[in-house]
Amino acid sequence: MSADALTATGVTAGYGGDPVIRSVTLRAQAGQIVSVVGPNGSGKSTLLKAIAGVLRMSAGKVVVAGRDLTNAAAEVVARSGVGYVPQVDDVFAPLTVRENLEMGGYLVARSAVPDRMEHVIEVFPRLGSMLRRQAGKLSGGERKMLAMGRVLMLAPSVFLLDEPTANLAPAIARTLLEEQVTTLARSDAAVLIVEQRARAVLAVSDYTYVMGGGELRLSGTPAELTESPAFVESFLGGHRDQAIQRSEADDHADTGKA
Ligand SMILES: Nc1ncnc2c1ncn2[C@@H]1O[C@H](COP(=O)(O)OP(=O)(O)OP(=O)(O)O)[C@@H](O)[C@H]1O
Ligand SMILES: [Mg+2]
Repeated sequence: MSADALTATGVTAGYGGDPVIRSVTLRAQAGQIVSVVGPNGSGKSTLLKAIAGVLRMSAGKVVVAGRDLTNAAAEVVARSGVGYVPQVDDVFAPLTVRENLEMGGYLVARSAVPDRMEHVIEVFPRLGSMLRRQAGKLSGGERKMLAMGRVLMLAPSVFLLDEPTANLAPAIARTLLEEQVTTLARSDAAVLIVEQRARAVLAVSDYTYVMGGGELRLSGTPAELTESPAFVESFLGGHRDQAIQRSEADDHADTGKA
């Protein structure tokens, strides 16, 4: 039986006071897209930071491909095959696209960098035509592509993507999820993706966890979740929470463009 690419068990973490997330357990296998959805402030980014080694856990365990990375330093986590794309500050704005990719390969032997870069450009062909452009001047979608390309330089076995579609136009967001994110998983990596666009991310997910108030509230396959009245009410229909407002805004934006 193959081990999970990523297992996080009982993760509890915060910023000094009471824990912000409590006892969160999830797993992802190679080739899977596993999503985490939930309202603003529910602790999604905190969870990814704890897994990535950016934030210390007060309890819990993180295992990647059988290796215990609990509270390992961020660089050790990256070196162990975890590519983390944070919600903000995801690229080095003053540097060019090429320099950003080279920075992404900082843990790779220098001689291997050109091959890795070639691979990244195969996966994200548009980056190849933008190598000399300054990262800070890219569009939102191009920038996210670069951020993902930057972590792809390390050929990770696990991607942690924190709201890659935030601030993108709906059509671009959908393309990013359906094409680029799906491509990352197809390279036999596990993708753990945080999203507020519940509807769009469910469409590409193998499994989804729902967070609320720092805890896991619900989990299941997209088919199972869409059968759950609680999920549908909170994320796809009833309550007018942030997720729904965004997904309605998407619908309107799409209509407006048609
Ligand atoms: N650096 C920080 N210092 C102190 N508290 C923080 C810090 N970052 C986040 N928090 C708090 O932790 C809680 C969870 O925040 P988190 O960023 O994990 O939520 P989120 O689910 O990612 O929200 P969003 O959808 O808005 O990105 C919030 O109450 C937030 O105010
Ligand atoms: Mg967040």
